[in-house]
Amino acid sequence: MFHDVIIGIPKEIMKGENRVAASPDTVKKMVAGGARVLVETMAGVGSFFSDDDFKAAGASIETNVESLYEQAHIILKVKEPLFHEGLNKHEVNLFHPGQYLITFLHPASPVNHEMIKNLAMMDVTSFTLDGIPRISRAQNMDALTSMSTVAGYKSVLMAANRLSKFVPMIGSAVGVIKPAQVVVVGAGVCGLQAIATAKRLGAVVTAVDIRPDACEQAKSLGSNVWDVGVPAEVAIGQGGYAQRLPDEWLNKERENLKEAVKKADILILCALIPGKQAPLLVTEDMVKSMANGSSIVDVAIDQGGNCACTVPGKVENVHGVTIDGTKNIPGMVPTSSTWMFAQNIYNFIAYVVKDGKIELNREDEIIASSLTTYKKEIVHAGAREAMNL
Ligand code: NAI
Repeated sequence: MFHDVIIGIPKEIMKGENRVAASPDTVKKMVAGGARVLVETMAGVGSFFSDDDFKAAGASIETNVESLYEQAHIILKVKEPLFHEGLNKHEVNLFHPGQYLITFLHPASPVNHEMIKNLAMMDVTSFTLDGIPRISRAQNMDALTSMSTVAGYKSVLMAANRLSKFVPMIGSAVGVIKPAQVVVVGAGVCGLQAIATAKRLGAVVTAVDIRPDACEQAKSLGSNVWDVGVPAEVAIGQGGYAQRLPDEWLNKERENLKEAVKKADILILCALIPGKQAPLLVTEDMVKSMANGSSIVDVAIDQGGNCACTVPGKVENVHGVTIDGTKNIPGMVPTSSTWMFAQNIYNFIAYVVKDGKIELNREDEIIASSLTTYKKEIVHAGAREAMNL
């Protein structure tokens, strides 16, 4: 399937990024399909995959990243191209015309506009994994869902670790200690995994979501549901996803959330609206109402956060409550997140590469919604809208 295709896996350069776009398992599959795979030396070290592991899987280890970019037909990455301090040049400038890039590009986000324009100018054909549609035949390529799963799991462990009390009910000779109350706001992929993890730890869990389906799924995991009183017709937009609430309803939701937040020992915030800023649901007064020693993780921080007091990328104590604004939570579980990400990206290239060539059927929904730059043009609908093209 991949005959004569050269696939390059550079080491990620974003600070603190431990993931890599291939695992020894996926390298083995690419090599078995006829590809030559070049992996930059130490690329897997953050995920505990050594050069020897990749070599044993059939990869060639490249010590010179510029040479890796020169040789590869397809580059697989986790993060969008960034400025490479070590080379003193932008990763975009390592590409050559006609090359392919598959990664998370977040092309609608204003911070990435210049980089996307440069990729187009370079005549790089790029695909963004955050554009993979939520349809059943694309499920095994859906890296966003994989990373939300990791974030949901890890966020509860992070919060529990900082909580000043036990999470489960503890029976002891001096009396029974009540279990912690965990409130999860946003019961999508991330929230449902957070609920499942908190249940496994023995917490009493309450879910909040404005989509009735999400509330049903939370209930099926044994969670309580807190009704914030937003009617489904106001909450649900295109494709059945949540939409941005009008201010009047957002205010009502915040009002109705007050009691739930006040009683929470752990608050996991992961309410998002696809392609938009995360809704602000927890005010400073609501944080103040929580007991000292409580713990919040604002998983939505990459999209602006759900809590007014979260500091992006920092853990702060605000009114006696620890608020964790860690960005890139999936990167904190690097082996599992790399394993999932690598499988997703492998499934994507196995889908687009036919007989050693990338087949670009732009009528295909999976290609159409992930293709970002093509023939020197920006073709991604969200990016075009955001750039007024
Ligand atoms: P998401 O990450 O965009 O949103 C997270 C959650 O926040 C959603 O459940 C949303 O309803 C909720 N939310 C938004 N605004 C809110 C507000 N004001 N208050 C409370 N909650 C709010 O969504 P995610 O998790 O990526 O996907 C949502 C659903 O899509 C999943 O539960 C699943 O049913 C479906 N899905 C389907 C896939 C497929 O068919 N391949 C793949 C992934 C998800």
